[in-house]
Amino acid sequence: MATGNRNMLRVSSVSKDYPTPRGPLRVLSDVTFDMAPGNAAAITGPSGSGKSSLLYILGGLEPPSSGTVTLDETNPFELDAPGRARFRNSDIGFVFQDHCLLPQCSVLENVLVPTLVGGNGGDMDAWARELVAEVGLGSRIDHRPGELSGGEKQRVAIARALIRRPRLLLCDEPTGNLDASSAAHVAELLMDLHRKQENILIAVTHSPALAGQFPMRFELSDNALVRAGSGP
Ligand SMILES: Nc1ncnc2c1ncn2[C@@H]1O[C@H](COP(=O)(O)OP(=O)(O)OP(=O)(O)O)[C@@H](O)[C@H]1O
Ligand SMILES: [Mg+2]
Repeated sequence: MATGNRNMLRVSSVSKDYPTPRGPLRVLSDVTFDMAPGNAAAITGPSGSGKSSLLYILGGLEPPSSGTVTLDETNPFELDAPGRARFRNSDIGFVFQDHCLLPQCSVLENVLVPTLVGGNGGDMDAWARELVAEVGLGSRIDHRPGELSGGEKQRVAIARALIRRPRLLLCDEPTGNLDASSAAHVAELLMDLHRKQENILIAVTHSPALAGQFPMRFELSDNALVRAGSGP
């Protein structure tokens, strides 16, 4: 059982092996770190080094083989499946690399998807419109994903991830498919919203320019997570 500060993300000795026909494949070994609300970290590392695997574990989507992850002293893997789904929906925002928007829904409807289940305080429609404006898409609010550019879709995915004001925001290559100027814009937006909501932000990226904007930087190599620097 984790002790200490409320709202902390605590990652203790997390290891991950995937079963394969040739035996277990080790992807993460003994990953340990803590983050407090208001902290932002970038994770870099070569393709196949386990970055997405680590994000899925932190997001309660994939269990670790050993070790624990707690957010505000809750270990999602100790909850039953409905409890874990509720926890993920209310406390964790996930921006997937391929944004995973619903093609038949408008920008506004996509942003509102996480509010369809669970109790929601306040006027979600007004807050969704505010977030859509905040990500610069006020004039595209009725567009469907097929009527948006790559950078615009990524910004919708960020607004959707933030609609429940999650304590933890996880982003897998949030600027991976974007040109340099759209990537810089999305990165700026991410940091700006992170500061406003005081969440814990962790972004996986291949971009040294994006990683350089984060106060904390980690690198995954040889299954281990090492501190790669701090300060922008
Ligand atoms: N379900 C699975 N079963 C077996 N092996 C897997 C599974 N998922 C991922 N792997 C392997 O684990 C390793 C890490 O995968 P992961 O997707 O975490 O890498 P990554 O660092 O995100 O790479 P990329 O930068 O290419 O996205 C890879 O070698 C991959 O082949
Ligand atoms: Mg990946």
